[in-house]
Formats: sequence, structure tokens, C-alpha cells
Amino acid sequence: MLTLGIESSCDDTAAAVLEDDTTLLSSVVSSQDAIHSRFGGVVPELASRKHLESIHPIVEEALARAEKKLMDIDLIAATRGPGLIGSLLVGFSYAKALSYVSKIPYVGVDHLAGHLLSIFLEEDTPAFPYIALIISGGTTSLFLCRGYSDFQLLGRTRDDAAGEAFDKVAKILDLGYPGGPIVAKLSDQGDKNAYRFPRAWLEADSVDFSFSGLKTAVLNQCHTFPEKSGLPAADICASFQEAVVDVLVTKTMFAAEQHHVDTIVLGGGVAANGRLRQAMMENCGARSFRLFLPQPRYCTDNAAMIAMAGYHQYRETPSSHPLEGDVYSRSTLG
Ligand code: KG4
Repeated sequence: MLTLGIESSCDDTAAAVLEDDTTLLSSVVSSQDAIHSRFGGVVPELASRKHLESIHPIVEEALARAEKKLMDIDLIAATRGPGLIGSLLVGFSYAKALSYVSKIPYVGVDHLAGHLLSIFLEEDTPAFPYIALIISGGTTSLFLCRGYSDFQLLGRTRDDAAGEAFDKVAKILDLGYPGGPIVAKLSDQGDKNAYRFPRAWLEADSVDFSFSGLKTAVLNQCHTFPEKSGLPAADICASFQEAVVDVLVTKTMFAAEQHHVDTIVLGGGVAANGRLRQAMMENCGARSFRLFLPQPRYCTDNAAMIAMAGYHQYRETPSSHPLEGDVYSRSTLG
């Protein structure tokens, strides 16, 4: 069975062709970073306009790289939400139009389901149940995954997402956009113990997160220096990153112990962070937990994970979604 995945929830236009749930034939991602970088964040109106330009050539390229024609496709899976409504509408409407003219069934997929199942794009795959930490620009959530569509939300951020905190710290330090990879790179040259930034542990048994206080602490620390040019940016980045990693790792380990689950999976753009991956490995190793990390290209937004989630959704409930279905800005998964 061939699934065409389409993703346009934020600022990446992506398409992929997946054979069953085993063989990824193509995965194409067109980034809009060059458009949004001068604004220091995604400008929704510009994002949706660029998706409009890109969606058709990107889908054509995914089909061409897979050496398939549209009529070879058995299922179209498109991101339905959460995300920017204008961006989502482009990919989702395109998918429905393709489905309408070609009579190929389609399913609308929750973007978080894509991240939760992106690990199945790898050769080494986990067995259920597993604890999944999904960390991106809009999400920081812990899930207990018992099956391909059985996801229980355990905790989530009460304010900023982890990726959002990385991006905001980069903005405070004038480092550029998207901030996560830049802060991560600069951190390699800094001392992670230079500043003791706060960790929001919240209530004793809580696996919720909060990063807005940390961001304010970084801002306040920066204000103690008279000149922006004299800021020890590498030390600030490394200390900030360590605070984020400390909370993410500790709460993930706690959730696994609470639910007697010994398998951990990461997903979302921040899961590409080297220091986080290293700390997760050390902590899982110490507890004999199994850790599954998607390659960085499957951590950030892509359509291969949407095809994977769509394939399983359709396999479990083999009916096409009605064409009048709409997009949504908040996840149905919590
Ligand atoms: O999953 P994603 O591509 O898009 C969504 O937000 O859905 O994640 C993007 C986020 C951005 O906030 C970006 O700064 C962050 O992931 N990110 C990173 C790294 N690579 C991307 N954060 C920390 N370290 C990284 N290496």
C-alpha cells in the first residue's frame, strides 16, 4: 500500500511517499527559514502564501523521487492540525482536491500523531507501550503510547514550548532564527554551569512543564550586562540549555517510572538537540531503559511521519474522511 503524506502545519512544505509502514520511497521538505529569519519568527500570512507556491511542485517532486504516479497512490494523508490555520488550509485543501479528482481515499492526520510515530521510520523500532516526549516549537508534551492510535496525554507545558524558549533566548541574544540549532551550537563553546537558571518542577508528582520563568531569568541575566556586545552568550546558552534538558530528562524518567514503562521515544524539532540526546542516553542507560531517537530529519517537521500516522489510522479504521472535514489549531490529542 502506498501512502502520499502532505504536511504544511507551520513553515515547512513537505510531501513523502511511504510503502506500507516499512519503506520510505521519498521525503521532500521545503523550508521557509530564509523568508521568516529577518522577522525573528514565523509570519503566518507569509507562510501560507509560500505554501501555496510550493505545495504542487513539492508533491510532484515527492512522487517523482519515489518513481510513482498519482494513480499508483492508495491513500493520501494530510496534516489537519494543530498549527497555523492559513498554513494548514493549503496542504489540507490540496489533499482533499487530489482525493476528489483521483478518487483516492484520504485521511486527516493530527500533527502530534506524526511526531509520536516518527520513530517507526527508523529500522530499529520500539514495542508498545512507550513514553513519548514530544518537544517542538509549539508543543512540549509527555504521552503514554499503547498502540498506533492509543495515546494518553500525561503532561504538557503550561506556557511556552521548549522550542519556543530556545527561539526566544536566541532572539534575546540576537543570534538569528530558528534559534534552537544556533543556541545548541553556541552552547558547545560555553560552560553549562556558568549560571544556575531556575528549573520549574511544579507540583511533586506533576509531569507538566513551564519554561516562561526560565526565559525571563535569561532576560534578567542579560540586563545585568551594560553592553549587549559584552554578553557571555555561549555561557548563557549552555546554562539555559542545561536547565531545559534537566527538566525534560527528569520528568520523562519520572513518567516512565510512574507508569512502569521501560521504553522512551523522543520526537519533535528539539529532539534533534545533541545535549538532550546525550543526557537521555545517560539517564536511560542508568535505569536500563530502552531509548529510541529518530534521526534529526525525522524530528523536525516532515511528511514521512504524516504518511506513517495516516497509514496506521487508515489500517485501524479503513474509511476515508468526509471531504467537508476542516482544519484545527489545537491538537485533538491533548
Ligand atoms: O518540530 P519542528 O520542526 O516544528 C514544530 O514546531 O512543529 O520544531 C521546530 C523547533 C524550533 O523551535 C527550533 O528552534 C527547535 O525545534 N529546534 C531545536 C533544535 N533543532 C530544532 N531546538 C534545540 N536544539 C536543536 N538542535
